[in-house]
Amino acid sequence: MARKLYVIGNWKMYKTSREASAYIEALAPLVEGESACVYLAVPFTSIASASACAKETNIVIGAQNMNDAREGAFTGEIAGLMLKEAGAGFVLLGHSERRHIFGESNELIHKKILRAVRDDIQPVVCIGETALQRKSDQTQKVIEEQLVSALEAVPKEALDSLMIAYEPVWAIGTGKVPTLHQIQEIHHFCRQCIAQILGARKASKIPILYGGSVKPENAADIVALDDVDGLLAGGASLNVEAFSAIIRNASKEKTPKKVRKTTIKRVKK
Ligand code: PGA
Repeated sequence: MARKLYVIGNWKMYKTSREASAYIEALAPLVEGESACVYLAVPFTSIASASACAKETNIVIGAQNMNDAREGAFTGEIAGLMLKEAGAGFVLLGHSERRHIFGESNELIHKKILRAVRDDIQPVVCIGETALQRKSDQTQKVIEEQLVSALEAVPKEALDSLMIAYEPVWAIGTGKVPTLHQIQEIHHFCRQCIAQILGARKASKIPILYGGSVKPENAADIVALDDVDGLLAGGASLNVEAFSAIIRNASKEKTPKKVRKTTIKRVKK
């Protein structure tokens, strides 16, 4: 059976709802029938109009963040139920800009995952190390801590929809990309960590996407790697031609992988 591939665009704080609608109208015919699942994480204000535009298409609209509470006196925050009603099918959680600019901790991200699951929104959990952490040989430790904190005690039924996006912070918006060997190595490590937390069967099913300076030119090579199940593009997703080229280049069939049992030293929470 072919392995499903995902391509997610993250618009960050770009595009008004009018611009979002025009973009989706232009994108839909370009990606119709492609085998990769197409997701777009748009600003809150565009979710309703974007999902109306995407209704008859293969494009899934989602959000870039949400609060961990069901509702409450949290001025300026947005709840999962609001996103859901507006038409969001998924939410990015723990994006590096949320972690590093807005100070979101592993604990808070874990709570948001639980909330998203309760509110029936598919969580796409972003993880990744900074340049400094990589330089000081902390990459695996950081990744494992982020995964353990994110996934432990998540209800089993939630795991059928959850996705992980590995995005090295130093590769986001910089044009720097790890080598293909490094990407495969760290994705394999992520899958081993997930296997330790949830078991090999679940680990083989959870999609692990790569993000960080994804472009049409590198999409096919990255997605061809054994443990890569798709791509998360930021800057390149703002342009219809570039994003549709990434989707086309990523749309090919992959065969399922088996996860070898390995022993990983557990990191304390
Ligand atoms: P980039 O951003 O593709 O512009 O590097 C990726 C992201 O922030 O998710």
